[in-house]
Amino acid sequence: MAININLNDQQLLDSVAAKVEQAKALLRKIAGEYSPAVFANSLGAEDMVLTDLILGEKLDIEIFSLDTGRLPLETYDLIARVKEHYGLALKLFYPRHDLIEIYTRQNGINAFYESVELRKGCCHARKVEPLQRALAGNKAWITGMRAQQSATRDGLPIQTFDDGNGLEKFNPLADWSEKEVWAYIRLNEVPYNALHDKFYPSIGCAPCTRAITPGEDIRSGRWWWENPDSKECGLHVGKA
Ligand code: ADX
Ligand code: SF4
Repeated sequence: MAININLNDQQLLDSVAAKVEQAKALLRKIAGEYSPAVFANSLGAEDMVLTDLILGEKLDIEIFSLDTGRLPLETYDLIARVKEHYGLALKLFYPRHDLIEIYTRQNGINAFYESVELRKGCCHARKVEPLQRALAGNKAWITGMRAQQSATRDGLPIQTFDDGNGLEKFNPLADWSEKEVWAYIRLNEVPYNALHDKFYPSIGCAPCTRAITPGEDIRSGRWWWENPDSKECGLHVGKA
């Protein structure tokens, strides 16, 4: 969720400034040494920080989003605001209509609530397959994942080889805290998803994301009916 930040906290400002420099240096290196490189932008808070950094540095890194067809209205509104604020029309990748037609005919429109297998099938058709097309032909991809987001992301590396997709993968904000993300957003007046102000710290598809109560784990509103161990959609495998 959107966090209130004390912008007079000098220690926080110093750590953000240092991490911004590291992130910029890494992004410049990716643009220089791993071209063509792409950034997968979910329109979450972390990804808006990276969008601001990539566009601010005018780096040759294409920014794309996966429009699953089931995103919340607020995420579509943010896609429009990104265009107004930065003049950037995000490259949008859509699911294959034939796969969605087969899935919904066989399983139903909201089948993801029925089993982990059916949920993963939906994520595969709406996210994983489009991601494979978005990554094809690139040397590296960038995500906004942070190690502190969940137990499954503990120890997340800043750089790794993504075996599944066959290219280098970078997580430039891997060591950032949630506070640092929000300090950057506030300091730089970065546009962000309105749902973050309504107790949604982590945002995915509308039917699979809900608000949390303060103190709950930040990913507890994602696929809340499932066991925490199964809560990854297949975009990210293992510690990558
Ligand atoms: S998820 O795997 O559970 O959906 P999460 O929402 O935390 O992941 O996002 C982690 C990273 O995956 C994001 O920082 C982004 O790089 C990528 N990602 C997730 N969803 C999308 C999306 N719809 N479009 C583009 N990238 C996405
Ligand atoms: Fe389908 Fe939910 Fe996965 Fe979105 S998050 S692709 S609606 S199962």
